[in-house]
Amino acid sequence: MATLGSVLLPLAAVFAFTVPSHCFRTLTGASFTHRNITERAILRKTAEVCQDIAAVNGDPFDLIIDDSLTPEQVVQACSPSASVVSSVAFTNAIVDIYLSNADVDFLFALNAEYHFYNETFEMGRTLITRGVSAVKDSTDMGNFITARSVLGEVLHTLQDFYSHSNWVELGNTAPYDALITPALPLENLAGPTVPTCRNCIGDDCTDNILPAVLDGGLLTSGYFNRFFPNKPEGKCSDGGPLDMTSTQEPVGGINKDTFDSRHGFLHQEAADLALTASLDLLESIRICVGDQDFLRLVGLSFAPVLCFVIDTTGSMGPEIAEVRRVSNSIVASRLGTGLEPPFYILVPFNDPDFGPVLQTTDATFFMEQINLLTASGGGDLPEFSLSGLRLALTAAPRFSDIFLFTDAPAKDAVLRSAILALIANTRSTVTFMLTDVLSFRRKRELEGLAPRIVTQAQAELYREIALASGGLTIEVPNSDLSMVTIVIEDSIAIAVVTVFQDVKNPGAPCNFSFFIDDTLSNITILLTGTPSLTFTLRSPTGATQTSSEVSEPLASFSLAGNFRRLRLNNDSETGLWEISVNSTDPYSVKVIGQSSLDFIYNLVEIQDGVSTDFFRQEGRPISGGNLSLLVTLTRSDGVSVTQVSLLNTLDGTEVNGTLQPVTDSNYVATFSNVTEGTHVVVLRGTTSSLTSRMTPGSFQRQAPTQIRTSNIVVNALPNTTIIEAGSSVTIPFTVALTNGGVIDGGAMETFTVSVTNDRDFPVTSPSTVTIGADSGGLASGTVTLTAPEDALSGTDVTLTIAAEDAAAVNSNDVVLRFSVFRVSDIAPPVCLANTSSGCPADESLCKYFVWDFTANVTDGINGTDVEITILEGNGTLETSTEVGPDGEIITVVSYTASCCANRVVLSAVDNAGNVGRCVGQADEVDVMPTTEWNVVVKSNQVCFRGSRVFVAK
Ligand SMILES: *[C@@H]1O[C@H](CO)[C@@H](O)[C@H](O)[C@H]1NC(C)=O
Ligand SMILES: *[C@@H]1O[C@H](CO)[C@@H](O)[C@H](O)[C@H]1NC(C)=O
Ligand SMILES: *[C@@H]1O[C@H](CO)[C@@H](O)[C@H](O)[C@H]1NC(C)=O
Ligand SMILES: *[C@@H]1O[C@H](CO)[C@@H](O)[C@H](O)[C@H]1NC(C)=O
Ligand SMILES: *[C@@H]1O[C@H](CO)[C@@H](O)[C@H](O)[C@H]1NC(C)=O
Repeated sequence: MATLGSVLLPLAAVFAFTVPSHCFRTLTGASFTHRNITERAILRKTAEVCQDIAAVNGDPFDLIIDDSLTPEQVVQACSPSASVVSSVAFTNAIVDIYLSNADVDFLFALNAEYHFYNETFEMGRTLITRGVSAVKDSTDMGNFITARSVLGEVLHTLQDFYSHSNWVELGNTAPYDALITPALPLENLAGPTVPTCRNCIGDDCTDNILPAVLDGGLLTSGYFNRFFPNKPEGKCSDGGPLDMTSTQEPVGGINKDTFDSRHGFLHQEAADLALTASLDLLESIRICVGDQDFLRLVGLSFAPVLCFVIDTTGSMGPEIAEVRRVSNSIVASRLGTGLEPPFYILVPFNDPDFGPVLQTTDATFFMEQINLLTASGGGDLPEFSLSGLRLALTAAPRFSDIFLFTDAPAKDAVLRSAILALIANTRSTVTFMLTDVLSFRRKRELEGLAPRIVTQAQAELYREIALASGGLTIEVPNSDLSMVTIVIEDSIAIAVVTVFQDVKNPGAPCNFSFFIDDTLSNITILLTGTPSLTFTLRSPTGATQTSSEVSEPLASFSLAGNFRRLRLNNDSETGLWEISVNSTDPYSVKVIGQSSLDFIYNLVEIQDGVSTDFFRQEGRPISGGNLSLLVTLTRSDGVSVTQVSLLNTLDGTEVNGTLQPVTDSNYVATFSNVTEGTHVVVLRGTTSSLTSRMTPGSFQRQAPTQIRTSNIVVNALPNTTIIEAGSSVTIPFTVALTNGGVIDGGAMETFTVSVTNDRDFPVTSPSTVTIGADSGGLASGTVTLTAPEDALSGTDVTLTIAAEDAAAVNSNDVVLRFSVFRVSDIAPPVCLANTSSGCPADESLCKYFVWDFTANVTDGINGTDVEITILEGNGTLETSTEVGPDGEIITVVSYTASCCANRVVLSAVDNAGNVGRCVGQADEVDVMPTTEWNVVVKSNQVCFRGSRVFVAK
């Protein structure tokens, strides 16, 4: 650490130092972490939304909402059907959000405002409110991956406020609303010159905040400096283990990150407020985007998306017709069941055009668009297939199945490494449907046109992409297309898991075995290979079926083109199955089924000594280095994981990771000295309570995406993840060679750099970077990405920085996502001139009276219309609009309700997604009978209006 004294080398410093441990970090084991708090908040808020939806629909909802919820319980309780459900998407969204939350300690470790250090209240609040707008806009535009990553960052900053400021010490028991409400002033800030702390007495910091600060209710926060002790006079320090300022008077600090911190005696209070504040922030997003989009934001969907990338050049008529047929069949069978795809994605490509991406939640609209597709144009051969695929990969949620239809090679093969990087980043699976190349060639020859053909070398690119993603390359004459598109229905069924997958290239006869467990149903074996391929399938009891038998005794078998499908007749024969494949040509074997038991993993870095917190690792892992995987199971009841291994797909060797449980459903698997090549992650274990068996049964799952190692490291540190329209983001990056898993400080190398983004935003970047003398083996450069002036708020842009060594043998890359933001409107609507009528003080009379509330709501001059929703109260609402004296739009709200609910809370949302609130409360009045009875009760519903019948005390 002694080498880090200089901030002149910020990149090297930030990349090299073990990441600071400064926020809600576990030291004693029982403290709250950002991860605990974030996960709890999402689980609770999601369950609340489902509960409210169930109440509206009159459906039962019996989940108890507390801090012990698990993702699988929430998905189960929210699920529209009792059949097998998968919590992969929800689990993944939660992990994505908390890993982005943790990223703030890595990417923005030294930016005070991201942590509310140094009394940066205005800037910290701006980060939060701007981030929340970006989350809302991205959600509105369906850009959920970006929305989640920004949400994670915002939650980090918000949660840090409660640990790093003196809000808790001031005696507050509710969150600070102004942090999520731009319109509220930040009041009672201590100010830059006001002293706030005195020395701790030894280790005792219980009374180090100055009485004047506490009595005056002045808000302050701790100063933090990683490298130097200086801070403004009289100011509190953070006082965490990495903070140098706490050694200077006033010594000590006020942070509440853990129970062991200087103000650890208030850790529980700070964590509780951080949780409540996180819930409030999620609620403000929910109000703006609506319940359905909120659930999509948190990944709560019950079915996978349907995603097609399709060549629309002249020859593609039959394929388009087939896509139409398959889509129709899926839409028809799912509509109204609650198991519809959460959205539909269609990316056409042609020559010279590709896109735009059609992404919609509306099945009818999707079908209309598919019906409008026509095959036309496309003179010369290759098409922009990879450009189309890239759009689909960035638009689709992680872990999607993408189907690409074409009969032509890729014209944009230069995108190969960007595509492979995106696959590693998104874990989506790409299946190619390559059709009718030969017969079309004949047809074109007849028409006197150049033959249209995909050569083996060109098809190899598609095969490589499919393989890297765990997808298939299906080659079929288009007359047989309908026999292979069943793979689409197999893949996007509910809760599909990969049990086993392998590829032999070059081909050779081989036996493959895999465990079938009793959580699996609809078990299907998919094979691709040349027509001469034969196989024998063997069940655990020894029954066999060969490729010449089509339906008995074990499976029904169908064949078209290079594709074979076997659906097992009986899902309940659990145990070790075997398939022997005989072919000398390349082939692939994949076993899938439906099960709620699945897993996801993330490449993470673990902080030395503290293995309970993780930082996401971007890019490909280093050959010869260590690799840590955060493995998250989608269900944990009765499941125990016995082995997580890396299977080298080239030589078939399998290495066990060292397993460490983190929670019931999270494990860390650590591998040292990872061999060069491509690997897949295999998980094995046993299930007990899921089954009726007395002895636990074995299960296995495999992650489809391949992990490719590299001996190059690329690191990038953007200065923000939100770009203002019309402005630029600067992204310093470094590239290094590694040797034996560590950066080779003595290496000399020039790397070719290629930077691409999926929106064609202007980018500047060096085309090469060279390791300089005395740079510690790092080559550095800077990429600038500019969001055009007219980019819409919520647009996301995915940038890939790839670096290749001089020999063009090795490469690595990072994928970064940014959200575009426009500052035009950040002020929420305000509630003006509101009045409430009264209700009787005697509550037993409440049912005879109604009360009303009127208010004028406006988004101000240059503001927009507002949308009013009742948050609390069950009365009736009427609105009308007027134009105010300065031309502003005024929404006149009048609300009437029974006196038995004498409070109303309304939300007012403007077009930019800012949320304001109006709160009304009926005045309490004594009823003064004017005659014998001034209330004429015709029925319980019909009453005089409150204001007419009673008179204030
Ligand atoms: C937070 O998570 C850590 C790591 O999983 C765990 O050790 C700790 O007990 C959790 N804290 C609480 C309060 O649940
Ligand atoms: C906080 O302020 C101190 C002193 O003014 C400064 O040295 C330090 O760099 C600041 N910390 C951060 C994280 O910006
Ligand atoms: C298995 O597939 C059939 C039809 O292919 C479907 O009706 C059934 O619901 C599937 N099983 C599950 C558990 O989804
Ligand atoms: C594999 O196929 C070849 C050619 O069809 C055949 O000669 C050979 O016996 C088969 N091997 C096995 C193990 O079935
Ligand atoms: C990996 O772990 C499994 C289960 O614990 C064990 O059976 C197997 O022998 C291990 N493999 C290696 C290579 O250590």
